[in-house]
Amino acid sequence: MTDRQGMGNETERLQAARLRELDARHVWHPFTQMNEWQDGETLLIERGEGVYLYDVEGRRYLDGVSSLWCNVHGHRHPIIDRYVREQLDRLAHSTFLGLSHAPAVRLAAKLAEIAPERLTRVFFSDSGSTAVEAAVKIAYQYHQQNGEPARTAFAALSAAYHGDTLGSVSLGGIDLFHAAYRPLLFDVVRVPTPAPYRDLPIDPSASDAELARHPAAAPLLDVFRRHGERLCALVMEPLVQGAAGMLLHPKGFLALARRLCDRYGALLVLDEVATGFGRTGTMFACEQERVAPDLMAVAKGLTGGYLPVAATLAAEAVFDAFRGAPESHRTFYHGHTYTANPLGCAAALGSLDVFEREQVMAQLPEKVAHFKKAVERLRGSSHVGDIRIIGLMAAVDLLRDPAGGQAYPEAWRMGYKVCMEARRHGVIVRPLGDSVVLMPPLAVLPQEIDLLVAAIQQAIERVCR
Ligand SMILES: Cc1ncc(COP(=O)(O)O)c(C=O)c1O
Repeated sequence: MTDRQGMGNETERLQAARLRELDARHVWHPFTQMNEWQDGETLLIERGEGVYLYDVEGRRYLDGVSSLWCNVHGHRHPIIDRYVREQLDRLAHSTFLGLSHAPAVRLAAKLAEIAPERLTRVFFSDSGSTAVEAAVKIAYQYHQQNGEPARTAFAALSAAYHGDTLGSVSLGGIDLFHAAYRPLLFDVVRVPTPAPYRDLPIDPSASDAELARHPAAAPLLDVFRRHGERLCALVMEPLVQGAAGMLLHPKGFLALARRLCDRYGALLVLDEVATGFGRTGTMFACEQERVAPDLMAVAKGLTGGYLPVAATLAAEAVFDAFRGAPESHRTFYHGHTYTANPLGCAAALGSLDVFEREQVMAQLPEKVAHFKKAVERLRGSSHVGDIRIIGLMAAVDLLRDPAGGQAYPEAWRMGYKVCMEARRHGVIVRPLGDSVVLMPPLAVLPQEIDLLVAAIQQAIERVCR
């Protein structure tokens, strides 16, 4: 697992030691208990190549979580590199407030072409959180300006995760991440996650009486019956709730959500930040239920995992509510300094070009089938409980006693320990609690999937035995 390009000699070793010292002294890492971090061994990544990352000592790791679910075609893809370099020779950044530029215009047009048909307008921002934040504000303002100012309530799923800015956190339902901020947040009507009934399909065209008998459809219907008149929007991830632990929804749940939003006059906002760009096996997850939302947030894979560009796609009817004379103040007063950054837009154009040139979506079903089969094999391991897989995303639950369904004590940090051990077997993964997430880039090859799964298996056996 080593190559010769890392920090092999004495000077380089000293540099690495110095970097670790400075990291410990000055850096505050995200989602990280810094006490634990400072007690651990800081892995310094130096470069990437395809689905691999290399540390400063020259060790190679398979990027098993796609650099936090965003890498698509591998690191340093020559086509994306070229798009970014060529853009760098022209312009790194100019504001998108009052000006426009080719990479963003081309990207907006391209997104409108590949997204569900109803989505014709593209509002750029910088991250998944800001894409959702913009969607929340657009949905709210839309109703204010469209003759229904009483529609102020948002509905979201329990265990929802939509990012870390305050609007996105308001929608969030993961106490560990969100409870501390409750006094700062707006209220949200909760729809219980339908995940416990993932194997019980819903017929979205069923009568209300039939829906009321379905354990996942009934609470959704109930929320609309009780709050439908004041609902501004239902915000949800389509098909699967990623950060909640890859919680899979029953077939038909999304289509039912669309139908109920239409019936009660609420907007459907889909967060495709994690699921977009092929991750679930289709370009966008909502395609699998033939659902087009009114607003859709995309980020992560948009630039192939290169640069922080995100977008909120809107239906023309939503956009129209913002038209008017300047003094009507129907304007969407929102935007960031780096909105539609040209380098990021160029990377996104490069990534979408790779999708076409390399026929990425055509090759995906075979990889998805291989991935499913390989990950399913972990079911045989002791200390593995439920496994959830969709497309090239999977979560493997670690349990102290799988037969009795007994979890490990939180303080044992088993998910974390398995992921740390996995590094010794040449893969980088990150846990969600005691679930190990496997999410390789779409560019992963079957033999690399096998390598990833074998490493996880060994790590589980080592840590949990
Ligand atoms: C579904 C979903 N929405 C939003 C976000 C937030 O994206 P970002 O971290 O780019 O702000 C994430 C990140 O994991 C996500 O999974």
